Amino acid sequence: MRLVEATAEYRDAFLDMACDFVQACNVRGERYAHALADFDGFLARLKRGRDASQLPPGRVPGVEFWLIAEAGLIIGTGRLRLSLTPQLEREAGHIGYDIRPSQRRRGHGTLLLKLLLEQAQNYGLSCVLLTCDTVNLASARIIEKNGGVYAGQVTSEESGELISRYWIELVNLHQGHAGT
Ligand SMILES: CC(C)(COP(=O)(O)OP(=O)(O)OC[C@H]1O[C@@H](n2cnc3c(N)ncnc32)[C@H](O)[C@@H]1OP(=O)(O)O)[C@@H](O)C(=O)NCCC(=O)NCCS
Repeated sequence: MRLVEATAEYRDAFLDMACDFVQACNVRGERYAHALADFDGFLARLKRGRDASQLPPGRVPGVEFWLIAEAGLIIGTGRLRLSLTPQLEREAGHIGYDIRPSQRRRGHGTLLLKLLLEQAQNYGLSCVLLTCDTVNLASARIIEKNGGVYAGQVTSEESGELISRYWIELVNLHQGHAGT
């Protein structure tokens, strides 16, 4: 299993995964429906999203990664924000991730975050903020298994949902509990 930055090389595998999200009517389905409708445009937006000079005020640069199994199947995606605005620091944090619906509950989410934390370190971050809806027990567990230190809750200004916040110090990565 490996993590790669989003690339046209895995176009077919990505579209196959996007279908999985859309068919499952998943909460992330809308994002992937856009990618299915216009993969090149989707990839171009991701490319612009990495470059601070191409972003409007208030947007921070970020990198999208895909988790790929040996057979070339894309298992999930992750997004790393390279800095935080006050709003991101309150609610969304540095990292987001999704595992395709047909591949859940096999430990992939835990592995995906572990690999994303390594990338965050590669990109020069020393401490990252992770957040999840408090009701999202799977995501909370993934964060805790990757060394997340609970930093309390806030109520989302966007959804009204309770959000749990966690910090992970990347200098201690090698002591994390998540297996590979
Ligand atoms: C959250 C998500 C990433 C979990 O992925 P996954 O591959 O199923 O996670 P894992 O298999 O690594 O499971 C992690 C832990 O959560 C538990 N878990 C998984 N799904 C669960 C569920 N539906 N309810 C309760 N616990 C669950 C697992 O048992 C495991 O705990 P354990 O190690 O103590 O047994 C996936 O469900 C997803 O993509 N959801 C939609 C997007 C999302 O919520 N992203 C996170 C945003 S913060």
